[in-house]
Amino acid sequence: MLQIGWIRKLYPMYGYSLLLIIACLAACSNPDVKTIPQKIDYIRAISGKNDSIPVAIAQKGEVLIAYSDCYTCHKENRKSIGPAFKDIAKRYPVQRVFIDMLAQKVISGGKGAWGSATMSDHPKVPIEDAKVMVSYILSLK
Ligand code: HEC
Repeated sequence: MLQIGWIRKLYPMYGYSLLLIIACLAACSNPDVKTIPQKIDYIRAISGKNDSIPVAIAQKGEVLIAYSDCYTCHKENRKSIGPAFKDIAKRYPVQRVFIDMLAQKVISGGKGAWGSATMSDHPKVPIEDAKVMVSYILSLK
């Protein structure tokens, strides 16, 4: 008896799910829905206060970046294979945690934070140099 009671309670839910599926199919096949531009938040800024970056560090970072291969994939102002340095600066506040995390990412490479393109690894870049490079990038706010 108990079992039949359960089935009776569940039965109307099938009806609802069917309606839902039909509604979804209708929405997907509606051409108007496709033409609405989807606004994707590419930057996804993390809020937080900014520490100051000594000018000498930023300048050294700029030189280290110029001497490395970074500019083959990054531009300062616009997206290339990798995100624009200015977009990276817009996302991360100038704080030690982010500088450390990004420096590690420059060394190990990876993907997924900005899209499906992969940053090559830079195992020969010392961690201190990577931090200086990242400091320069984050100074471009
Ligand atoms: C082969 C191309 C390539 C090279 C060379 C390259 N990058 Fe990148 N970089 C990328 C891509 C692609 C991403 C986005 C990765 C992601 O979506 O997670 C990225 C992301 C970054 C980020 C942001 C990481 C994050 O998680 O938000 C920093 C900082 C960065 N690169 C710095 C550098 C520096 C400094 C160099 C030079 C030492 C460098 N990149 C060289 C392709 C490259």
